[in-house]
Amino acid sequence: MSTFLEEHGRTHMCGELREENIGETVTLMGWVSKYRNLGRLVFIDLRDRSGVTQLRFDPHHAEEIHDVATELRSEWCIAIIGEVVSRGANKNPDMPTGSVEILPQSLEVFSKAETPPFVIREETDAHEDLRLRHRYLDLRRGPLQEALLTRSKVNALTRNYLVDNGFAEFETPVLNRSTPEGARDYLVPSRIHPGKFYALPQSPQIFKQLLMVSGFDRYFQIVKCFRDEDLRADRQPEFTQIDMEMSFVTPEDVIEICEGMMAAIFEGVHDIDVEPPFERLSYDEAMVRFGVDNPDLRFGLEISDVSEAVADSEFRVFSGTVARGDVVRGICVEGGVEEFSRKDLDELEEQVKIYGAKGLAWVKIKSDDWSGPVANFIGDDEREAISAKMGASVGDLLLFVAASADVACASLGNLRKDLGNRLGLIDEDEFRFCWITDFPMFEEEDGQLHAMHHPFTSPHPEDLDRLDGDPLKLRAQAYDLVLNGHEIGGGSIRIHRQDVQNRIFELLGLSEQEAQDKFGFLLDALQYGTPPHGGIAFGMDRLLMILTGVDSIRQVIAFPKTTQASDLMAQAPSDVDEEQLEELHLRLIEPKSEENSTS
Ligand code: AMO
Ligand code: AMP
Repeated sequence: MSTFLEEHGRTHMCGELREENIGETVTLMGWVSKYRNLGRLVFIDLRDRSGVTQLRFDPHHAEEIHDVATELRSEWCIAIIGEVVSRGANKNPDMPTGSVEILPQSLEVFSKAETPPFVIREETDAHEDLRLRHRYLDLRRGPLQEALLTRSKVNALTRNYLVDNGFAEFETPVLNRSTPEGARDYLVPSRIHPGKFYALPQSPQIFKQLLMVSGFDRYFQIVKCFRDEDLRADRQPEFTQIDMEMSFVTPEDVIEICEGMMAAIFEGVHDIDVEPPFERLSYDEAMVRFGVDNPDLRFGLEISDVSEAVADSEFRVFSGTVARGDVVRGICVEGGVEEFSRKDLDELEEQVKIYGAKGLAWVKIKSDDWSGPVANFIGDDEREAISAKMGASVGDLLLFVAASADVACASLGNLRKDLGNRLGLIDEDEFRFCWITDFPMFEEEDGQLHAMHHPFTSPHPEDLDRLDGDPLKLRAQAYDLVLNGHEIGGGSIRIHRQDVQNRIFELLGLSEQEAQDKFGFLLDALQYGTPPHGGIAFGMDRLLMILTGVDSIRQVIAFPKTTQASDLMAQAPSDVDEEQLEELHLRLIEPKSEENSTS
């Protein structure tokens, strides 16, 4: 006997049917999404990835299938053949298929379903852990279907755009040796080479540079990267990059290609023009005005440096800070006088303390006077200078932190974000891009230099002959693309001269031997006619998170991990057999603490 599928092919998707289809006989396949039994009539919403169509089972119409129809329950997977009819006066304007329904004549149950552990509907309050454990069911929900289909679309738009612009797609190794991008590596033990390990790539950085040495000119890859780092809403241990590299280019060339790519993606997904060229900010300017190198430009509340204005202040906290060479910076909250109570301000002070600030000085500019605990110590001239610098006037609340530049940036940068949210200043439908340029080459921690981007980033051309001066003053030819307060991409022009690369390794504290051990193959390659080159990588997951308006990248990844780096569905990581360990020449030692044990 032949099966239903051998005899009948699907004619339409569930979200497709419209008034024009009335009178047609159609075959639909999908899942029972909603079920209502009104005595003699049974209504079912049949769902597939394209949407939902209402089925009306009426015993007068097809008596032989009616008993089975009354048994249907949520999430059964079925097929029906039936006639498309008008819903007449019962149209549902909220459903794209709402003007029609199907009168099924035959019904095939492919498989029944257990009662799902949570109700599968658009909005859910089921716990995320439960949904992650049954991710295949969670993924049936509309918003997740939409997010993942958008993801697929962005993949296609990206590929089309890059291929049209002369980029070729190549894969690079996943079993790799460790290349530093600043995070901890995921290691894979080698069976064949006892005691040796592969590392999963944190990015294809060195390989894409080698492809430029090989003459491929323009490379891209949509590629998984792995980083064992502390996870957050916009960080996963494995994530996807749109990775690109180009030969014979300046930063302007890379930036132009990227802006074109963003324009193609945003037009393709949302039909909106993001209007390149995007705004640009130097790293220094971003840090002073926004306190962070990934500023959200959808709202104001900019940070102002008032150090000069308060250098001689009677308020010792201010003048003393400036005398030490540190800074006094503040935020003017327009019309904030009424908005913030003493208790609110105490809360804000607690928040800035998290980032190392000793306090949060505030004044309210009232029509007759300045008020607040420190207002009396601020003289008339000082008030004028502060107001001019901050653009403040009557009705405004001024918030100040006196601290080192680092602490002022961190505390006020975070305060700015909190205030933006709290005051509802963010337009969720807006997309604001901005390039951050002129990063420093290095940052210092405990007397040791670290590459701010990565060690293959070229110094600014003007700084190339200053490699022997103060390394902290060197600027990098690096650029980040920021969208709505998230770093969605970062890249740089690379070093293509072996002597410069050696010097940078030296500044980073790598001996010649260490550099040779770690990057010998790159240093070797640089000897054989390396083209000037540069590139960038975008965080695909972050880009999608913003494109789809969700607040975690878990919502745009089919099978994400928790913030504890676990896959709750597949139960990874997991124990392995003794034999497997033996084969890999490994023996387990007792975990040192709870955190280290597998969860
Ligand atoms: P970078 O380390 O800046 O650069 O990474 C590029 C982009 O990848 C995204 N990203 C992440 N997304 C999710 N989870 C993570 N754990 C995570 N880490 C990074 C960010 C980031 O902007 N090889 C260089 C690129 C280059 O120089 O061409 C690199 O990997 O959006
Ligand atoms: P104090 O003199 O410590 O009582 O502080 C008086 C006011 O100055 C309080 O509102 C403190 O929050 C504020 N304050 C103290 N230290 C700082 C600082 N480093 N930056 C900004 N405000 C501060």
